[in-house]
Amino acid sequence: MKFFVDTANLEQIREAQDLGILDGVTTNPSLMAKEGITGEANVLAHYKAICELVDGDISAEVIATDFEGMIKEGQALAEIHENIVVKVPMTKDGVKAIRWFTDHDIRTNCTLIFSAGQAILAAKAGATYLSPFIGRIDDMNWDGIELIAQIAEIYTIQGYQTEILAASIRTPLHIVRAAEAGADVVTCPLSSILGLLKHPLTDIGLAQFLADHKKANS
Ligand code: G3P
Repeated sequence: MKFFVDTANLEQIREAQDLGILDGVTTNPSLMAKEGITGEANVLAHYKAICELVDGDISAEVIATDFEGMIKEGQALAEIHENIVVKVPMTKDGVKAIRWFTDHDIRTNCTLIFSAGQAILAAKAGATYLSPFIGRIDDMNWDGIELIAQIAEIYTIQGYQTEILAASIRTPLHIVRAAEAGADVVTCPLSSILGLLKHPLTDIGLAQFLADHKKANS
């Protein structure tokens, strides 16, 4: 399973990269706004900086909601770097745009996925990645991980090549359960990735090893 970090914050991206386990980055308009990145030139420059930092797939989202606008923005994004994956929302125009990008060898990430039906449409259009939003489904008292498992089963049965990118990850347990359910990729806040490190028995065990070593060597 690939690990992407879900942020536009360069420091956090650098920290995830330093761990040596990072395969890519995802962003969205909210994450860009959180970093105060505004204006087309600044947005494109920020994506370029991310591409220079990480050698992996970088999802950059279109803002346009109409087909022509998505194509224009997506082409500009794809020109930044070969690792850019154009992120397109699951709408009627979005599906048309994904098909157009697929036919023009531009890779895509179909975002805002909340149902298996949407996942089938995105795969049919040739999306490279599919982003079901686990946390937001859980917020509604449904089961985001169950959706990942359902899509994984459908994609296996049908032989779809689209990679399942579990998004809206909120906890380290989401990462573990997404892996169990068959996600190809998880995109997570840095805090959830670092949360995987934690176990009190690891801390207790290490303290004991160091204490025993000190005692034996003093
Ligand atoms: O990858 C999608 C993600 O950024 C959304 O996360 O926590 O806003 O639902 P969240």
